[in-house]
Amino acid sequence: MSMNAAGSRLKQGGGVIDRYREFLPVSNSTPIVSLGEGNTPLVYSAKLSARIGRGCEVFVKNEGVNPTGSFKDRGMTVAVSKAIERGARTLICASTGNTSASAAAYAARAGIECTVILPAGKIASGKLLQAFVHGAKIIAIDGNFDDALRIVRKLGQRESLVIVNSINPDRIAGQKTAAFEIADLLGDAPDFHLLPLGNAGNLTAYWAGYREYQGNGRSKRLPAMFGFQAAGAAPIFHDKIIERPETIASAIRIGNPASWRQARAAIDQSKGVVDLVTDEQIIEAQIWLAQHEGIFVEPASAAAIAGLFKCCNAKDAAYSFQKIPEESRIVCTVTGHGLKDPDALTARMGKITSVAANEEDVLRALGL
Ligand code: F0G
Repeated sequence: MSMNAAGSRLKQGGGVIDRYREFLPVSNSTPIVSLGEGNTPLVYSAKLSARIGRGCEVFVKNEGVNPTGSFKDRGMTVAVSKAIERGARTLICASTGNTSASAAAYAARAGIECTVILPAGKIASGKLLQAFVHGAKIIAIDGNFDDALRIVRKLGQRESLVIVNSINPDRIAGQKTAAFEIADLLGDAPDFHLLPLGNAGNLTAYWAGYREYQGNGRSKRLPAMFGFQAAGAAPIFHDKIIERPETIASAIRIGNPASWRQARAAIDQSKGVVDLVTDEQIIEAQIWLAQHEGIFVEPASAAAIAGLFKCCNAKDAAYSFQKIPEESRIVCTVTGHGLKDPDALTARMGKITSVAANEEDVLRALGL
């Protein structure tokens, strides 16, 4: 087979723009910059379903298996394709890590420059390495994500720089495709959708996607949207800006989300809730999911699972699953891969001591 034939065949199995072109702001003349993002697994979890009981089904949408390991790639393929169409030469973004990793990779793929503005010392090591290896210019600031985004908004006024944060509507447009995939697979939207809430773009995008699909007759239901913030970084829950957000889930360490108003509206319109989960609950959920379902997610992603557990157990939860109808369908989105943030867990692993390289010593170490 010639390279061209192989190339075009691969292209047919392309990313979210190929699959959902009619719902996205692209035309035939838009040059598509894709790494084959999307089409991520929607994993049925018998164990999570059992925790809720009453015939409910729980699915985990595993966005960590996207090309750069997070859901950001869905929005980035659209944002970068549109940026190239408009003749952009340099992308810029603020990030807690995943947006910068994705922007850097898609810029490399497109052959353009990328500058990332990051809170110094607060980016998970895997994500920082991604920005480095893809050749982004990395600027660390003595401030948090909110400070970085404020600076990026200003710099983006220059014509030479295209902002690829979710304040760019092309990002939200691409991220809607996750809702399309779920509705396509289940045959309809779920009854409840749970996800972590940081800068609030993703919840906004899912809600837009579900509404658009319903408007087009592709689905009938609309889910109740549940957003979970880390207890130390919960501006939407408390309805006030958090000046110094803190959480082990560094991806959602955000005190003044850009899509605050839109996410609040989505939660209210869908009759959903916003709630918070502690760092302990986040890590417990992260380890639970890894050990019971074989899905390793980063701490921010585990907020969705911690939120599900909170709804199941706690009397103080903003929503109790005692209230959910029997046989409801629940989807939890886990947003990023666990390998991005090894430091969050290595302290727990402790030291592994070696034994002599023979069968007897190994058997003794195993207690056999
Ligand atoms: N989960 C992960 C793994 C994230 O990286 C983010 C956001 C979120 C959840 C929250 O999504 O912001 O749309 O509400 N990360 C951004 C970044 C802020 O810079 O990578 P959101």
